[in-house]
Amino acid sequence: MRHCNLHCVTTTKKKPPAPWVEKYRPKTIDDIVDQGEVVQVLRECLSGGDLPHLLFYGPPGTGKTSAILAAARQLFGDITRDRVLELNASDERGIQVVRDKVKAFAQLTVSSTRPDGRPCPPYKLVILDEADSMTNAAQAALRRTMERETRTTRFCLICNYVSRIIPPITSRCSKFRFKPLARDNVIKRLREICEAEGVDVGNGEILHQAVDTCEGDLRRALTALQCCQRLLGKITAEGLIEVTGLVPEKLVNEYLSVKNYSELERFIENFLKEAYSAFQLLDQLAMIVVNAGQLTNKQKCTLAVPLLWLTIIHNDQNISVEVSDNEVGAH
Ligand SMILES: Nc1ncnc2c1ncn2[C@@H]1O[C@H](COP(=O)(O)OP(=O)(O)OP(=O)(O)O)[C@@H](O)[C@H]1O
Ligand SMILES: [Mg+2]
Repeated sequence: MRHCNLHCVTTTKKKPPAPWVEKYRPKTIDDIVDQGEVVQVLRECLSGGDLPHLLFYGPPGTGKTSAILAAARQLFGDITRDRVLELNASDERGIQVVRDKVKAFAQLTVSSTRPDGRPCPPYKLVILDEADSMTNAAQAALRRTMERETRTTRFCLICNYVSRIIPPITSRCSKFRFKPLARDNVIKRLREICEAEGVDVGNGEILHQAVDTCEGDLRRALTALQCCQRLLGKITAEGLIEVTGLVPEKLVNEYLSVKNYSELERFIENFLKEAYSAFQLLDQLAMIVVNAGQLTNKQKCTLAVPLLWLTIIHNDQNISVEVSDNEVGAH
């Protein structure tokens, strides 16, 4: 009789390496880089103070989600799962979810001791990540739940655009703006992570290049470095340009030396063929103008205004797509 040996079959599939952004997500609030004010408030809450409703806002990759997740773990320890409800944009968060799921969770009463008798905060925490994608009706429903359940529940809303949160909610929260991370701090953090991963960064020049492309967004810098390392087995200047979608300096210079319309046409044809982003080129041109030592401030302004308009038009198009998506969600 033949035995079925399926259970013995070993697969040769290697587990893909964990993304560095998750592997090095701050475990405690002391690991959060910059953002001193909010870290200070969270530290006070951890040492026994009460937690206000919180609204974290600011650009991507600056530590908003990491800060509240680290604080929650420190506040609740091994009962975090029971005490924290985390919803993000991938979950359904229309008015029905606020009425049912959030309200039901908020109404549960909790004690100030853990099952093993140790003390813990006498409240639960609802984290609504990417709250700016919630419909206004859902936000309005949330406002009433926040009011009624304050005794037993704290809310932390997280978003990029605070203007998309309705005033009755913003006025009930302590607001914290997360700033783009300071360049030196990003470099320090990247260096620590590269060291921990055993990745060679030479004299560190490459880290400066990674930071140049990330605009204070540590997630973007980390993702670019890891992509480069995985694709090429090392981190190089060219590799970073490739994975970040930057327009190579040679091409930017080519654009700047265009002399007439037919040269411009040829440039654009080649540019599109290579599939570079026109918006990225505008971004890089703006930086060149800002940093141009030979220009006066007035000249910089004259050159920057059309670039600014193009950027506004580009962003407006993105925002109108988001707004119409939200409207569809609201109906
Ligand atoms: N201030 C910070 N201190 C330490 N690590 C950070 C910080 N900001 C970002 N990171 C790193 O970047 C990753 C993404 O950060 P996080 O998810 O907290 O950003 P976010 O502000 O919530 O961004 P988004 O607005 O896109 O949701 C983290 O896992 C961490 O590795
Ligand atoms: Mg986040």
